[in-house]
Amino acid sequence: MKGIILAGGSGTRLYPATVAVSKQLLPVYDKPLVYYPLSVLMLAGVRDILLVSTPHDLPLFRRLLGDGAQWGVRLSYAEQDKPRGIAHALVLAEGFLAGGPSALILGDNVFFGNDLDLRLAEGRRTAEGATVFAYRVADAERYGVVEFDGAGRALSLEEKPRAPRSDWAVTGLYFYDREAPAIARSLAPSARGELEITDLNRIYLERGTLRVTQLGRGYAWLDTGTHDSLLEAGEFVRAIEKRTGQKVAAPEEVAWRMGFISDAELLAASAPLRSSGYGRYLERLIQHRAP
Ligand code: DAU
Repeated sequence: MKGIILAGGSGTRLYPATVAVSKQLLPVYDKPLVYYPLSVLMLAGVRDILLVSTPHDLPLFRRLLGDGAQWGVRLSYAEQDKPRGIAHALVLAEGFLAGGPSALILGDNVFFGNDLDLRLAEGRRTAEGATVFAYRVADAERYGVVEFDGAGRALSLEEKPRAPRSDWAVTGLYFYDREAPAIARSLAPSARGELEITDLNRIYLERGTLRVTQLGRGYAWLDTGTHDSLLEAGEFVRAIEKRTGQKVAAPEEVAWRMGFISDAELLAASAPLRSSGYGRYLERLIQHRAP
C-alpha cells in the first residue's frame, strides 16, 4: 500500500504565521507538524509516500524530508497548483498509485494513542472499499460528520453541517482501495470549488463498502486549524514527552522500531541533530533499548 500526505492549502486561517512558511512546517512543540502524519503512515507500515504541496512550499518539504532514505522510506513529491480539494490529491496521485490501494493523511492531523498501530493495521487491510476513523468532538460542525445507527453502522456523512447529526467527526486519515482515484475524478467540485473528500467517502458509503472505525476516548486526535489548537497540540505533546521521557512521532524512532533502519542507520540519522535534545534522545534509544 502506498501513502499520500496532503500538505498544501493556503493556510490563511493562521496568517501571518503562515505567510512565508507552510502550516505543516510549523513546530508542534519540538518537531515540524508534518512529522506527525508521516509517522502515522510509517507506523501503518507504509514506506512509499507521495507528499503533495504547493509549488511555493514543496522545496522546503524536500529540504526537510529529502528522499526518505534516512528513515528507510521512499518519499516523492507532487505539486498542487492551488487548493482544489482533499480528494484532488487522489487524482494527482493516480500515476504514483499505479492502480493500487492508498492511505491518505492530512498533513495537519495529529494522532496519538495506545494501540494506534492496531487500528492502522485494520486500515491497511482495506483491499476493497474504504476505511475511515471517527472521533468524538465538542465542535463537530467544523468537520466531516458521520451519523451511526444503533448497531454502530454509518448512516450518513456530511461536510461541516450547521446542525450536526452526531458529535463524531471524520478524521483526516483515509484508507482506500484501487478505485479511489477514478471516483475522485468523477466528483463535481463543491460550492467552494473543491473536490470534497466527504463526497468521495459518501460514494463508498452508498456502495456499502465504507468502514468507519470509532477511535475511543483513549486516543487523542488533535486539531491544528487555529492558533489556539496549534498551541494546545504542542502543549499536549510536551506534557506526554516530559512525563514519559519518550518522543511522540519521531520518524527516526518509528523507522528503527519498525525495522526500516538498522542501529547504525539510526545513529547516522541522529548525528546531525546531536546538538538538540531530540538528537540526543535518538542516540539514547539504542543504549536503553526499550521493549
Ligand atoms: O481534519 C479533518 C477534516 O479535514 C475532516 O473532518 C473534513 O471532512 C475534511 O474536509 C477536512 O476539513 P478541513 O476544514 O480541515 O479541511 P482543510 O480545507 O483545512 O484542509 C485540510 C488540510 O489539507 C489543510 O492542512 C490543507 C490541506 N489541503 C486542503 C485542500 C482543500 C491541501 O493541501 N489541498 C487542498 O486542496
